[in-house]
Order: sequence, then C-alpha cells, then structure tokens
Amino acid sequence: MATSYPQTIFVLGTDRDIGKTVTSIGIICKLMSDELGYSVHDIGYIKPVGQETLTVMDGHGVPIEADKDAVLITSLMGIDCHGYEKVSPVVWQSGVTAEFIDEASQGDPLAGRQAFLERIREAYEYVCQGKRIVIVEGTGQPGVGSVAGISNADVINLLRDMGVPVFVIMVARGGIGSTIDQIFPYLMAAEHMGTRIDGIIINGVFGSKIDKIQHYLDAYYQHIFPPIYGHYVRSGTPPPILGYVPLVPELGLPTMRLIAEYFAGKRDAAMEIIAPEDFETKACGLVRDIKVLSLDFGYEQLLNPGDAVIIGVNANDAILAMLLLHERMERRYGTGLSGMILSCKQVGGLARQIRELIERGDLPTITLNYDSADIVSRIEGLNIKIQPYDVNKRQLIADAFSHSLTLWPELQKARFAAKA
Ligand SMILES: Nc1ncnc2c1ncn2[C@@H]1O[C@H](COP(=O)(O)OP(=O)(O)OP(=O)(O)O)[C@@H](O)[C@H]1O
Ligand SMILES: [Mg+2]
Repeated sequence: MATSYPQTIFVLGTDRDIGKTVTSIGIICKLMSDELGYSVHDIGYIKPVGQETLTVMDGHGVPIEADKDAVLITSLMGIDCHGYEKVSPVVWQSGVTAEFIDEASQGDPLAGRQAFLERIREAYEYVCQGKRIVIVEGTGQPGVGSVAGISNADVINLLRDMGVPVFVIMVARGGIGSTIDQIFPYLMAAEHMGTRIDGIIINGVFGSKIDKIQHYLDAYYQHIFPPIYGHYVRSGTPPPILGYVPLVPELGLPTMRLIAEYFAGKRDAAMEIIAPEDFETKACGLVRDIKVLSLDFGYEQLLNPGDAVIIGVNANDAILAMLLLHERMERRYGTGLSGMILSCKQVGGLARQIRELIERGDLPTITLNYDSADIVSRIEGLNIKIQPYDVNKRQLIADAFSHSLTLWPELQKARFAAKA
C-alpha cells in the first residue's frame, strides 16, 4: 500500500533572519483560525537542518543540541514534540564544516550525505504521523547545508521524491528592486535543481508602502519576468506572491524576562531578580521603551504604559514614586510599567521598606551592578528573537498574517488538488 503523506508546507527564506520562523508561526496561527479550523494536534513542525542550537532533553531524557526554532515553535505554539531529535534531526553547527570536508574528501562523499538525508526522512515520517499538515522550516538562505548535500532544495527534493505533497514558500524582505534581486538567484538555482517554488511571501513591509510595493512587484512578475526569464522556469511564470506581511515593530521589543536572561549570563552584572516571585510568567510584557530617571522631579508625565525605567538603586523616593505610578497606570489604562531596573547595585542604599514594597507588588524588578548608560547601551545592542514564552508576539503575528496572507489558502488547495 502506498504511504499517503499529509500536505506539507516548506518555508524557505532568501536570508537568515528574514522571517521564516515568523512566517511558520503566522501560517500555524492561520491554520488554527476559525477560517481554516485546524486543531493544534493536526499540525506537525520540523526543522530538518538546524544551525543555532539550545541544549534540551531528547525523548529518553538525554541532553542533546536541538535547533532553537524547533524549541521555540513547539513550545510557543503547543505543537506535539515527541523528542527534539525528531523535530531537529540534523544540526549543522559552525566548526563541523572542515571536519565534514576532510572526511568526505577522503572517503565516499555521498555516504555522509545519504546518512543525513536518511535521518531527515525518518524524522519527517515520525513527525507527520497522524497530522493533517506539516510545516517544515528551511535553514538560513537556500544554500545553507550544501556543504553536505543537504541544502534546502535537496531536502525539498527528498520529500517530494518520497511522495510528500510539498508546497514551497519563499520568504523575502519587503522592498522593490532589492527584493527582486534577492529572489532571482535563488529562484534560478531552485529551478536548476528541479525544485519548484510555489509562492512568495513578502515580509516586513512598511505599512505605508504596501500598496506601492505590491503594485511594482505585481507589475514586474506579471509583465516583465515572463518574457525575459520565463523560459528558465518550468511553469513559464514566476511563483505568485501569496501575501504582503507588514512590519510589526513590536516584534523587535524585548521583555523584562529576556533582559534578565541576558544579564544573568554576565557575571559582572550580578543580576538579582527582586520581584515578582513568578517573574518568569509575569515579566513577559513587551518593554516599549527604556527610560532613565534622574532624581529630578517632573518625570512622571514622560512615562507611558509599557515603559521600563532605570533608576539608581539608592533613589528610594523615585523608586517609591514609580511603584505608585505603576499602580495608577494599571488602574487607568489596564497596563502599567513593564519593568524597573535598579542600577549601580554595588553602591547599595535600597531601603528595606522600599524593597519590601517592591517584593509585594507585581512590577518586574531587577538590580544590576552596571550604571544606567551601560545598561541602556547593552539592551539596545540585544539581538531580539522571539522566545518560547512570547505569547504577546504570537498574537501580533497571528493578526498580521490573518489580514495579509490572502492568496495562500486558495492556491494551496488548488496545488494539492491538482496533485491528487
Ligand atoms: N514582519 C515582521 N515585522 C517586524 N519584525 C519582524 C518581522 N518578521 C521578522 N521580524 C524580526 O526578525 C527576527 C527574525 O525573524 P525570524 O526568526 O522569523 O527569522 P528566520 O528567517 O527564521 O531566522 P533564522 O535564519 O535564524 O531561522 C524576528 O525575531 C523579528 O524580530
Ligand atoms: Mg528561523
């Protein structure tokens, strides 16, 4: 009996950090919307080739390195994960390239590749069991993995050769000329490898520019590309653009939990969490802005809900004023400050009564050895990626994709129907 695999969406990107994970989350949210009606248990996720890893437990409780996106998506979306070795079967970390080339060039170059492909095939077969649909996240830019013959196109070809109905989406950055230029070489390379790309998503488009960008990209791909390059593409036409996803600036905001996690990794910061007790769940609000308070009065009107404030650890009056302001904001707007960072901890001077007040409240508060300028510049320099606990960002992505991904469900149905 022929094995019947579920519909599978492969999310490719023209670059690292282009929004493949954001798109995977957006598609999963769209699938789970009332419009499409999938349950979370209908959906599988796999990142066949990973690069950046986290240490997690495998299905037998043994620590392994698994791709960060595999951990993020299964945790944030609640997708079934019966062992990270299945959701993240191959990890290609820096340092393994030279070793692989040494070994492969002295032996059979195809043997190592075959072993990787076999691992991916087995993991896919495991992850897809009982699922109506599987999301596969590609790695980096399309060429990543080619050292070992497991580039994104190789993995797509593997799945299609197995008989998996794969719909490939290429995610590109929102622009006009730069977007066309970025997509072109990858489209040509994919075609050359016999890999059909089924649709393009333009991600991170400035809201005010969506109409203009849509106009020019549609005009280019409908009227200019086909007569010049159409003969290089099997279907004669480039993949359709499935949607224009707006730039959601809040995705770039940290949370107090992320800030605390960052400083926890710096020994000289001597980071201490003062409150609240359940910091991990209560410190997940987005930090909209970081404001440094001096001891001068009159700063309250400069603060807005969602701001985090940095105050010297011994500025007890100002700290008290912030606790009161936080409560007032919560009463008035439903949202208070997102956090308080007490600087220059080594100076000391935080009054016991003030510390107790902080501990009794719900304002996420940490202390650090650094001064305020140092704290600001370190937080501004953070590379902010979505975290497994970022439920606020998950909602923002769901909203952005529910409005912008208009063409995809229809096309996907048509493509899979045509295959049957
Ligand atoms: N539409 C968007 N609006 C605003 N920011 C975005 C958008 N899409 C992505 N980003 C930002 O870019 C970051 C990287 O996105 P994402 O993790 O999805 O990229 P990726 O292609 O999966 O990266 P990697 O190559 O590491 O897997 C996100 O954490 C987010 O901060
Ligand atoms: Mg990713």
